[in-house]
Amino acid sequence: MKALEVFTYSIHYLYTRALEVIKERTGDENFSYSDVQWVLTVPAIWKPAAKQFMREAAYQAGLASASNPEQILIALEPEAASVYCRERKMRDFVTESGSNDALVTDSMAGPDTQYVVVDIGGGTLDVTVHQLLETGAIREIYKATGGGSGGQNVNGQFRALLESIFTKRLIENYARQNPVDWLYLMNDFEVKKRGKRLCEGGTTRVRLPNSFIGKFPSHTGWDINTVIQQHYSLNEIKVLRNEYLCLEPRIMKQLFNPVLDDVIAHLSKLFAKPELSGVKYVFLVGGFADSVILQERIRNHFGHTYRILVPQYASLAVVQGAVMFGQKPDLFESRIMTTTYGIRFVKANEVVKIGEKRRFTGFAPLTGEQKQVKIDFYQSERSDVEFVTDAGVEKAPGRGLVLETPEAWKTRDIEINLYFGGTEIKVTAVNSTSDKQSTAYLDFLATN
Ligand SMILES: Nc1ncnc2c1ncn2[C@@H]1O[C@H](COP(=O)(O)OP(=O)(O)OP(=O)(O)O)[C@@H](O)[C@H]1O
Ligand SMILES: [Mg+2]
Repeated sequence: MKALEVFTYSIHYLYTRALEVIKERTGDENFSYSDVQWVLTVPAIWKPAAKQFMREAAYQAGLASASNPEQILIALEPEAASVYCRERKMRDFVTESGSNDALVTDSMAGPDTQYVVVDIGGGTLDVTVHQLLETGAIREIYKATGGGSGGQNVNGQFRALLESIFTKRLIENYARQNPVDWLYLMNDFEVKKRGKRLCEGGTTRVRLPNSFIGKFPSHTGWDINTVIQQHYSLNEIKVLRNEYLCLEPRIMKQLFNPVLDDVIAHLSKLFAKPELSGVKYVFLVGGFADSVILQERIRNHFGHTYRILVPQYASLAVVQGAVMFGQKPDLFESRIMTTTYGIRFVKANEVVKIGEKRRFTGFAPLTGEQKQVKIDFYQSERSDVEFVTDAGVEKAPGRGLVLETPEAWKTRDIEINLYFGGTEIKVTAVNSTSDKQSTAYLDFLATN
C-alpha cells in the first residue's frame, strides 16, 4: 500500500470524526470543513518534500484543495509545543513544585530568554532552539535537528531481547503465523512500558499468549523457563504461572538505554554549539517525554545546567499548541534554514524573517507558445556553496519550480519571489512588464 493512501485515509478519518464531534456538541448540522482553519503538524526536521506530501494527502482527503491552500496551515511540532508550554503555569509541569502559580511566559520574561524544545515521540526526535523577544515574538536561533530516536525503539529492544532468548527465527515465524497474538503481546509490553511499576522498582509482567507458551511444551524437557535460563538467571527474567514474562527493573531499564544514549549524545553535541550558550530552559514534550525513565536520564544529565520543564501530558503539548499556533501564526519572527536552497541560494544556517522575500529576476520562457516554465531548484546541506555546480549541491527532487505562464507572457521578464521563513517555502511569480501574477509552485514530489 502506498504511504500517500495511508496518510489520506488517516487525515480523512480524523477530520470527519472532528466534524461529527463539532456538529454533535454545537447542534449545528451545517458545520462543514470549510468553516475550519485546519492545522496539520509535522516535525520541524521534515524536508519540503515531506511537507508537500502531507499537503497532498490532505488535498486527496478533501480537507482543502490546491486552489484553496490557505485552508490548511502546516505547523512545526516543537514550535507548536513551545506555544503551548509558554501559556502554562509553572505548576502544570511535572518537574516543578505544585504550588507555583506563575505563568511560564512571566517566569521566562527578561531580555531575550533562550530555550530548547525537545519533542520526542514514537520514532522522531525533533529539537528546536528559540529566543523569546521582548515583543513576545519568537526567533529561531539554531536550525532544527534530530533524527530517528523515539519510544518505539524500546519496543524494538524488547523484540530483540525475545529474539536473543528464543532465536530470531522463532520470533519471526511466530509473528508471521500469529499476527493477532503477536500484536497482543507487543501491545501488552507497550502498556507495561508506560506503567508506574517500572519506576517504582517493581517487576514488569508482560502477558504471553497461549500460542507462544505452547511452543515450549514442558514434557520435552525444554519448557520456557529452561530456555530462558540458557541466557538469563531466573532472578532477571522468568515466566510465571505459564503466562507472564517477568522482567526485573534492571532488564527493563536496559531496553531504554540505547535510545536514551542516542538522545543524550544528540543533545550534548547540540548544547556544545556556541549559538546555544545562552540557553536556560529545556521543554521536553511528545509522548516519550511522559516516560519517567527518560525524564530522569535527561534531568540527571542536563539538570544542573538547564531548567528542564516537562508539561503534564507531554504527548498532548503538540496538538494543543497547534491549535494555539493556528490562532497566532505570526508569533514566529524568523527561522533558520536547515538546508541551502534556491536558483541562486538562500544558505543553510541563514536567518530568514517570516514573510521575507527573496527576489530573482531575469527569467523568460524560451518560446512564445510555452505555457509552463520549469526552473531547476537546487539544494545542499552545506552553507558555503556559491554555484549549483559546487560539490555537495544537488538538484532538488521533483519538478522544481514550476510557473504556469499565460500566452500573454510572450514578451516578458519574469520575477520570481521566494519566501523561505514560513513553515513551508512559498513562491510567487510576476511578469515584470505587465505586473500580472502567474501560478507558481515548488514541486518536490513528481517524478517527471
Ligand atoms: N508514559 C509513557 N512512558 C513511556 N513511553 C511513553 C509513554 N507515553 C507515551 N509513550 C511513548 O511515546 C510514543 C508516542 O509519542 P507521540 O504520540 O508523541 O508520537 P508521535 O508524535 O505519533 O510520533 P513521532 O513524533 O515519532 O512522529 C510511543 O512510542 C509511546 O510508547
Ligand atoms: Mg511527534
